[in-house]
This record gives sequence, C-alpha cells and structure tokens, in this order.
Amino acid sequence: MKHLISPLDLSVEETEEILTLAEDIARDPKKYSHVCDGKKLATLFYEPSTRTRLSFEAAMLNLGGSVLGFASGDNSSAAKGESVADTIRVISCYADIAAMRHPKEGAALVAALHSSIPVINAGDGGHQHPTQTLTDLLTIHSLKGRLDHLTIGLCGDLKFGRTVHSLISALVRYTGIRFVLISPEELRVPAYIRKEVLQKNTIAFTETENLEEAMPELDILYMTRVQKERFFNEEDYIRLKDKYILDTAKMKLAKDDMLVLHPLPRVNEISVEVDKDPRAAYFRQAQFGVYARMALIMKFLEVEAC
Ligand code: CP
Repeated sequence: MKHLISPLDLSVEETEEILTLAEDIARDPKKYSHVCDGKKLATLFYEPSTRTRLSFEAAMLNLGGSVLGFASGDNSSAAKGESVADTIRVISCYADIAAMRHPKEGAALVAALHSSIPVINAGDGGHQHPTQTLTDLLTIHSLKGRLDHLTIGLCGDLKFGRTVHSLISALVRYTGIRFVLISPEELRVPAYIRKEVLQKNTIAFTETENLEEAMPELDILYMTRVQKERFFNEEDYIRLKDKYILDTAKMKLAKDDMLVLHPLPRVNEISVEVDKDPRAAYFRQAQFGVYARMALIMKFLEVEAC
C-alpha cells in the first residue's frame, strides 16, 4: 500500500502521471464524477486549514465519494489523550483513504506505520506538505508548460515554511532548475535542505535578503507567509512578519511572464493590489489544488475513468 508523506514518495514518473491525470480532470471533470462512488475519504486535521482540508473534501465529492473527519484535534478523542497510532487504526475501519494534518513533524509517518489504508500527509509541522507540492507543480506545468529550466525565487519564511521544503525537494529532480532563496537571516532554509537536497544534487542556488534585486531574473516567485504559529517568541515574529511585501512597484521589476505563486493563506506579504496583475497566479493555484488531489486520490485508490 502506498502512503504520501514526502514528495519523494512519488517517483518523477508517478508525479507526472498524477499531473497528466489532473490536467485531464481539469479539462473534463464530468468524466470523473463517479469513479469513487462508494469510497470514503477521512480528513484528520489536528491543525487549522482552509484550502487543504476543503479541497481534499471537494476532490472526493467531485469523484462521487464521501467524506468524514474532524477539523480540529479538540473535536476528536485526541483531546482525551488518544494517540495518532490508535486513531488511524480506528479510522482504517471507517474509510478507504485518509488525509492528515498535524502540528508535529513526523506525525503522518507515524500514522502510516499503523494504518491499513493509504495515509496522505496534509502538512506535518514545519516539515513537509506534499499535496501542496503537487498543486504547485500542476500550476507551474499548466501555466508555464514545463517544470524544467526555471529560475524560482522562494521568498519569506524558508525555515518553517513546509511548502518550500517540499517544493525544493520535488523540483531538484528536473533539469535546469535554479533557486534564489530570499529570506532574512533568521528564516533561511534549514541546513538539511541546503546540504542534503540542494548541495547533494548540485543544484544552483543563491541566498539573498533582497527581493528587489532578485526580481528581474525570476520565472516564478513563490511568496510565503511568516509562520506565526511556529515561532517561540512573539517579538521575533513581529519584527520579521512584514519584511517582504510584494506590491505593484516591485512587480514592475519582474519579467512580463513571471508567475507569482503563494500556497495561501496570505497575511501582508502580497499587497491586494497585485491580485489584478495577470501574473498573480495564487488563486488559480488554489483551484489547481482540487484537480491535483482528485488525481492523487484516484491513483492511490487505483480507480480509473471508464
Ligand atoms: N496552502 C495551505 O496549506 O492552506 P491551508 O492551511 O488553508 O490548508
């Protein structure tokens, strides 16, 4: 049985199969509206979410299946002290597949080790968020037409931003990828990403604090929110939270076909005036998340359209 804990649990070929299927779903969603009739998805969310939980639920409903689950650990027996391992054993009796978000790094892996149904990591602490990565890859592929030969700027909280860790891990497998890592010193990518992912794969990357200087060379600008919930110290969060604000003046420095992505939610890091710019792709990205998750559910449940 397959679980998705990190983007690397899918080979490049499997990732491409999912993206190809997602693009077909986007073209003709009706073709897939009954492929999961009778199947159930459990959404086990121990941490807040709007897009991931609801797009998973929309995905399963779009496929003809049903959903059950909880949106907060406080509304489950976790509040009484039940372990993730026991919870997933029980959920395995109720559903065919589970998506789990948890504030602790490694929680989805623990669930997978005790599960008899596929477990999908919907975000584990500051670690990984592989279905956001499928969403991001689908957005880039659909709007740019390729996943190779791209210069990608990642800006903001690169330390705690799990979407950044997952996206880097997935993209290093394509040729001609270059990263510009834009963050304050305190929020640089973790050492394991720099050493074990970027340097080990001899990927070209630079690190800078200056967004304006980086703008002209980027094909993609991936903005991220400073992850308030992962800070130990409120003072540090307040000092760093508005370090980068993308506005129309900065967009003037970018290529005409640069895309702005953001996993959302945004706080202040993209001014709302940028939403009107045709290069702002973050709301289209949220829509792509439904197609990516539909394709993933189909692959993991091994169902096909007739
Ligand atoms: N992108 C993302 O993970 O959003 P949510 O936290 O709303 O699920």
